[in-house]
Amino acid sequence: MEKFIIEGGKPLKGEIRVSGSKNATLPILAASLLTDGVCEIRNIPKLRDTLTMCKLLRSLGKTVEISANKVVISGSVNNHVADYKLVSTMRGSFCVLGPLLAKLGKAKVSMPGGCVIGVRPIDLHMKGIMALGVKADFDGGYVIATATKLQGSQMYLGGTFGSSVLATANVMMAASLAHGETIIESAACEPEIEDLGNFLSGMGAKIEGHGTPRIVINGVRKLNGISYRMGSDRIEAGTFLLLAAAAKSDILVKDAQYNHLLALVDKLQSIGVDVRKDGGDIRVKVKKTLRPANIVTHPHPGFPTDLQAQYMALMAITPGVSIITDRVFPDRFMHIAELNRMGAQIRRDAGVAIVEGIKHLYGAPVMASDLRASAALVIAGLVAHGKTEIYRIYHLDRGYEDLDGKLTGIGAKVYREKE
Ligand code: EPZ
Repeated sequence: MEKFIIEGGKPLKGEIRVSGSKNATLPILAASLLTDGVCEIRNIPKLRDTLTMCKLLRSLGKTVEISANKVVISGSVNNHVADYKLVSTMRGSFCVLGPLLAKLGKAKVSMPGGCVIGVRPIDLHMKGIMALGVKADFDGGYVIATATKLQGSQMYLGGTFGSSVLATANVMMAASLAHGETIIESAACEPEIEDLGNFLSGMGAKIEGHGTPRIVINGVRKLNGISYRMGSDRIEAGTFLLLAAAAKSDILVKDAQYNHLLALVDKLQSIGVDVRKDGGDIRVKVKKTLRPANIVTHPHPGFPTDLQAQYMALMAITPGVSIITDRVFPDRFMHIAELNRMGAQIRRDAGVAIVEGIKHLYGAPVMASDLRASAALVIAGLVAHGKTEIYRIYHLDRGYEDLDGKLTGIGAKVYREKE
């Protein structure tokens, strides 16, 4: 396993580029199962998770050629079993369920299992596919589903914690080849769903309303191959905005989609960060002492849960008290203990995190636990006094392409070493 060594306190300046969106890429790769045509997808981020999804597609019978940031997928799916070994390493692969049902009329997909950010239930996925006439059962940790014919219907997909991104994706993909009309009420509105809807439309699907809470899909008989370019990753971009604010630096975040980050931009501006759209990029400057501010995460367009840990790292060094609540994954606070090892003053009380911001953190050995908690530790390490070692950075490599290279490009001292 590998670790990062970060020498904190270096002045950061210049430009940092955002890669293609991981969370849009995963369902879009799964959507290639819906056609025997050739799908060419460009600006794919080169990450462990995207490589895992490509492995899964190959195991299902597809031919997948990967070169730099492009994949070309062809051939016909000929296996309906998504194996535990692959699905358990990446929950996002559960979104092959819908396409397998649409293309083969059957699917055996390993249940995703939990992770450090939460239980990761699948009740909304099951509710959605069963509304399309699917018969489903659970056996040996697998969902076993069959559908002689997928029949469109109207369904409500809102859950206790709001809408579900990948449940919406699974239903959209299954409904694209179903008979008749499907209406998804309380659909996820994340930009990744809008992206998936655009991709499916490009394949010939009849979809309206993707990116809004009401999606209407009229099934078609066949979908075609497509050539498509992924948009940039809003969570990576948001991570860089928060990093620039914490380091009080003047940074240009290249190829960042401003309109995908309005909740974060609004919050940063309210605490005194100068954030502004600069063409297809976002410029961040910090000229004064920042004020603390509370956040509560919500499904899009609310403050993203995937930026909660990174925001906490910023509040840890913003003098004053801030309260952080995660309404999407209420237990997503693994990063608190590690930030406190670096001198942060953060405690949990009745489900919220209370942060008493201090002048500075100090470097320490810390452990990455999940993708976004690891990003919070990188931000903390970059601004701490002294050296920070972050162990198990494979968590980071799942969602951030060449992060050490990108950070070095703006003046950070970050080294990757064997543990
Ligand atoms: C996607 O996961 C993202 N992953 C997550 O990003 C992100 O945190 C999450 O959406 C929320 O925005 C990918 O897109 C690959 P959900 P997903 O279903 O779709 C509950 C990262 O760091 N729920 O929208 O699995 C669930 O427990 C990852 O890049 C049900 O109750 O998340 C949660 O509380 C982490 N029943 C809420 O809904 C269900 O059937 C939102 O989860 C499904 C979910």
